[in-house]
Amino acid sequence: MRKKQKVWIYARFERFWHWAQAALIIVLGVTGFEVHGTYRLFGFAAASDIHRVAALMLVILAIFSMFWHFTTGEWKQYLPTTENLNVVFRFYTKGIFRGEPHPFEKTRLSKLNPLQRFTYLGFKLLIFPVLATTGLLYLFYNMWPRIGLSGPLTVVALLHTAGAFLLVVFFVVHVYMTTTGRTPTANLKAMVTGYEEVPVTNDTRHG
Ligand code: HEM
Repeated sequence: MRKKQKVWIYARFERFWHWAQAALIIVLGVTGFEVHGTYRLFGFAAASDIHRVAALMLVILAIFSMFWHFTTGEWKQYLPTTENLNVVFRFYTKGIFRGEPHPFEKTRLSKLNPLQRFTYLGFKLLIFPVLATTGLLYLFYNMWPRIGLSGPLTVVALLHTAGAFLLVVFFVVHVYMTTTGRTPTANLKAMVTGYEEVPVTNDTRHG
């Protein structure tokens, strides 16, 4: 059996960013779908106010997180790779149901498996930019004539809602995937404490 040790995987800022982003996205989802008319919870006016404040907080958080990712070089963790993608895909569609061990060995320098790299990159380059751009256009609708913009708000609303549905799908799959670690709560604990038990390799660093 491979020797394992507890190693530092997630930095403090990374954990703060992850949980703050998760909380804001939940608040935005709950209030956004109320504004959309799906149900009534806070009342339209309150839901709209909460949505606007949480949205601005998320945009500010995203700016800080981009700065952190670029200054620490952690953005490289998301560079897509097809190496072993088929192996990881096979694990999630077959191996996992036969009790096989996870084919990807997580290390401090490579903590995302190829499938995670693609899905998180999709979140960062597609879902979030669509939601933030359409959301900001929605938020500053009154300023459109002043900045030379025109067109129907319905297109913006439609794209924003489509982005929101994609995010709900991402959220459900993401939460399920977090339970597929060494134990059902191992990945969750790592994102809380920063530490995870991983096989010993040369680039294993202690935090
Ligand atoms: C990223 C930054 C975001 C910004 C700037 C933003 C901004 C806005 C604004 C200004 C509105 C118009 C409603 C109002 O008056 O309050 C709105 C609606 C909405 N938002 Fe967001 N939002 C963001 C993120 C999100 C997220 C993450 C979700 C879902 C997970 C979401 C879901 C919705 C939905 C479903 C609506 C209703 C659309 C409609 O039916 O017209 N938004 N958003």
